[in-house]
Amino acid sequence: MRAMQTTTLTHWLLYCRPGFEQDCAQEALRQARQQRPILAEQPAIIADSGYVVVALNQQSLCYRELIFARQLIRLHHTIAALPERDRLTPILAAVAALPGSFGALWLEVPDTNDGKLLSTFTRRFQPLLESALREQGRLQDDIPNTNQHLPRLHIFFAGNFSGKSSALIGTSDPRNSAATIMGIVRQSMPAEAPSRSTLKLAEAIEVFMDRSEQTRLLRQGMQAVDLGAAPGGWTWQLVKRGIRVTAVDNGPMKGVLAKHPLVEHLKQDGFKYAPRKTVDWLVCDMVEKPSKVAKLIEEWFAAGWCKHAIFNLKLPMKQRVVALDSALGGIRTRLDEEGINYKMIAKQLYHDREEITVFLTKTKG
Ligand SMILES: C[S@@+](CC[C@H](N)C(=O)[O-])C[C@H]1O[C@@H](n2cnc3c(N)ncnc32)[C@H](O)[C@@H]1O
Repeated sequence: MRAMQTTTLTHWLLYCRPGFEQDCAQEALRQARQQRPILAEQPAIIADSGYVVVALNQQSLCYRELIFARQLIRLHHTIAALPERDRLTPILAAVAALPGSFGALWLEVPDTNDGKLLSTFTRRFQPLLESALREQGRLQDDIPNTNQHLPRLHIFFAGNFSGKSSALIGTSDPRNSAATIMGIVRQSMPAEAPSRSTLKLAEAIEVFMDRSEQTRLLRQGMQAVDLGAAPGGWTWQLVKRGIRVTAVDNGPMKGVLAKHPLVEHLKQDGFKYAPRKTVDWLVCDMVEKPSKVAKLIEEWFAAGWCKHAIFNLKLPMKQRVVALDSALGGIRTRLDEEGINYKMIAKQLYHDREEITVFLTKTKG
């Protein structure tokens, strides 16, 4: 077992969509740099691994403000070569070196094909490790509202390094991390929805809004505009909540949405459409440059045409973090100039591929 070598640097373990490791690391370093001058090791990126480890002299990072990170974990130990015959002993020894007790034990794997193979093992291993930690008093029983702020213990089985399987051991703060295993909020495909894109909006609603916001902000009788609506997956999420939708797209709405009493389909250009009066929601999934979509969103909020929005920004092949900075920075600047108070959260969701999803809502101030 190898303890982290330096006392001055904090090691952070971040999960991400495989293929976005560079963006994930770059963004964490950028956030740290905004807080104070940083001292960091060059992150060792393993392409398509689904995770990165970033070492820097920063005691805290803000999960909510990281777009590419699915999870934010403080890494304490790396077991580089886990013996196949007895994985329990070295893991228990590593956990014994950590202070305090934990509110939950999460065994996790990368979101890759190799990771999927490991998940059979983690399912078998979970009860063994859990009961050992409970016996030692390290894992608290799940009593509602008592252990919700205790750190979660993560054992991440990262896969093979030169033929040896490794385990990364860390903790997350429930107030500054994703609330789901592997940072993934899976959705099941509703049979009636006309496209798989519906999963993106379903996930966005789960990730960006807590239960009370969902009840308050998505109510029967509300009015929404869906730009780039066809064939109707996003519109379906709204109408199933009793929201009336103006669906703007030259393409056809399909299935139940082709003739739905809550849907008005307009074959128009989404970049030219303007609502007759303020609507509650704007949702937008048009495949366009992020700068062009960001400009459109700015215009909608500045004109007071909507109160809340969920929209996609398609990612360019290169310089993704720079492109997003510019698009989201443009929206912030414009809303600040207009004196609009708002909350904006951007994430690459599990169901997002070469894109991210943004939630923007006006707040009281
Ligand atoms: C990714 S699909 C949207 C899928 C949709 N959200 C769903 O859940 O089924 C993108 C859509 O944007 C539409 N689109 C692209 N540019 C547009 C524009 N300028 N005006 C209106 N629609 C546009 C395309 O016709 C296409 O149907």
